[in-house]
Amino acid sequence: MIKRIIIGSDHGGFNLKGEIISHLQQKDYEIIDLGCNSAESCDYPPIAKAVAKEVLETNTCGILVCGTGIGMSITANRFDGIRASHCTDTFTARMTRMHNDSNILCLGERITGAGLALDIVDIWLNTEFEGGRHQKRIDMI
Ligand code: RB5
Repeated sequence: MIKRIIIGSDHGGFNLKGEIISHLQQKDYEIIDLGCNSAESCDYPPIAKAVAKEVLETNTCGILVCGTGIGMSITANRFDGIRASHCTDTFTARMTRMHNDSNILCLGERITGAGLALDIVDIWLNTEFEGGRHQKRIDMI
């Protein structure tokens, strides 16, 4: 089970990031928060890049939150080896672990309420990659 999570947000995802951190700390996850550190306006690309690099270097997984989740996913997916999944429902969160071996979850605070977002986080963290034909397809990316 993954126990170390690299997390980041811009101002648009700052409040939801806080809810996710509290939720995961209660479950004994180790959280590495790479910013931002307040709800003051900031740019999402540097945060997405820092989280993507740390996920690759430590071979762990990450969560990125912005207003929509889209800017974070576009940026993180520029990195070879990152499979960032923008999820707004639990089915997608489960499937992107099972079939895509997703290693970064992207959420949008302005889209997804905290209750659903925390369910998405739990399902994404607790679903295993199926491997097999799906690994072959990932190798083709
Ligand atoms: C910030 O206003 C917003 O553009 C950002 O949080 C994100 O939604 C970008 O994709």
